[in-house]
Amino acid sequence: MVTLKEKEDLDSVFFKLADEFFASRRTGLTFDDVTLATLYSEILPRETQFDVELAEGLRLNIPIISADMDTVTESRMAIAMALNGGLGLIHYNMPERQQLSEVSRVKNHVHGLIQEPIKVTPEQLVGSVLELIDNRHFSFNTFPVVDAAGKLIGLLSGHVVKPRYAQRAVSDLLTPRNQVETIQKRELGKDPVGRADKFFAEHPGINKLLVVDEKDNLRGLFTMSDVERIIQERKAQFRPARDAQYRLLCGAAISATRNAFGDLDRERITSHVGGMVERGLDVVAVSTAHGHSKGVGETVKLLRSAFPKLPIIAGNVTSGSGVEYLADCGANAIKIGQGPGSICTTRLVAGVGIPQMTALYLASRAARRKKVSIIADGGVTKSGDLVKALTLANAAICGGLFAGCAEAPGEHIEINGKVYKQYRGMGSMAAMKSGSAARYGHDKNLTQKVAPEGIEALKEVSGSADEVLGQLIGGIQSGMGYLGVANLEQLRQKARYIEVSAAGQREAAPHDVVELKTGK
Ligand code: XMP
Repeated sequence: MVTLKEKEDLDSVFFKLADEFFASRRTGLTFDDVTLATLYSEILPRETQFDVELAEGLRLNIPIISADMDTVTESRMAIAMALNGGLGLIHYNMPERQQLSEVSRVKNHVHGLIQEPIKVTPEQLVGSVLELIDNRHFSFNTFPVVDAAGKLIGLLSGHVVKPRYAQRAVSDLLTPRNQVETIQKRELGKDPVGRADKFFAEHPGINKLLVVDEKDNLRGLFTMSDVERIIQERKAQFRPARDAQYRLLCGAAISATRNAFGDLDRERITSHVGGMVERGLDVVAVSTAHGHSKGVGETVKLLRSAFPKLPIIAGNVTSGSGVEYLADCGANAIKIGQGPGSICTTRLVAGVGIPQMTALYLASRAARRKKVSIIADGGVTKSGDLVKALTLANAAICGGLFAGCAEAPGEHIEINGKVYKQYRGMGSMAAMKSGSAARYGHDKNLTQKVAPEGIEALKEVSGSADEVLGQLIGGIQSGMGYLGVANLEQLRQKARYIEVSAAGQREAAPHDVVELKTGK
């Protein structure tokens, strides 16, 4: 029998705070297994704040990170993430020197300025320029012309990049240097986009502005359409995530690299991370499938002693003891997730992994004891999942949600009129063959005996990272408004959960209607 007193407080019988909810259950729960109860609110969604300090010196303005996967994060995605206040982790499925230059691209990014424009040389034939456009699917056909030393010679305008001139040399047809409008890099000042915007306003009909240095070497290019888009975006509510020198934040992942004898390759790890730090890297992620392991712990210890101030993310683990181990080794933020990812098969192949909400709960309590942050990694398919993840974690990593964005590496693939991009697990055979085997504890010379722990897939093209992030942030804001919390700390403290039945899960999605348009 329910007594009157209990009746008055019946809500608290059903809606439990994290400790009571998770600790009293012995079943692994994931995002769809739970829902959050509303609380009295005086908070409007737009008033909520979600800046987060993941480690000393690593502050994000939104708690979202793009995954270190070769179909998700290279410099373009990392730039887009940081411009929106988040962070991108550059993957390591590429030669080390390429990873260094990817980091440099992010750190040297001047908003709107294309740092390394595609150039042509005066000796080239127009035919070869047409081939270049075709092979690389360029949507533009005007190119700066430079000599072998990088000095600006002129501009090859789209009007002459035509098959009828295929046999003519670029030098015959270019607009010569003295007729090309340029600006000195030093003149760009603190607001390069504003300066470029002023230039375009003062020069009707010109839609490309070349940037040169004192020696007249080409240093970049502004296009009017980019500049106009950015001016529009300035009204956006999230500030870019920047370092103390006003450069965009950039993270990069590494593995616990071993030498030919199977030992940790200490020298190679420190020199590579050192190279990235010199280029301005803000955080390194030791990113493997099994973080509660000697190799990952030793790598974290090595980096902690070589770079005492560098924020370190390490993972992945799904237990409190895993978090404590990596925290004791010196990690500042720990990635949580084994098998929740949309392209992961670890649970099927290895029979291992913990449903994500339970894993996050266990990790969060250990993290609180050790004063480190945790990052929910994998399985986020909608903004509601993010809200749930952020009731326990300090930030979340998303892969699949960004893999269809224009900023993700990879080409468009058209099938039956729909456009897709490739998205593959880093433990898929194809990704391991091109370098990520170490992440899954395998040798790079893969044999047939290796069981892949990820699949190769396609994601429907999903617009720009700005658009996807806009939707995700909007969802987090709504969630926080419903819970009456003004910031992420309050969200972690106040969230109350209830388990959802299978019928409840069906009820949560659109049902019994013919959907005309998705909610996006
Ligand atoms: P989502 O769900 O956002 O997950 O697409 C991205 C995360 O999945 C992890 N990941 C893998 N896990 N096998 C796995 O078991 C794989 O091949 C694989 N590749 C990536 C990774 O943590 C990533 O951030």
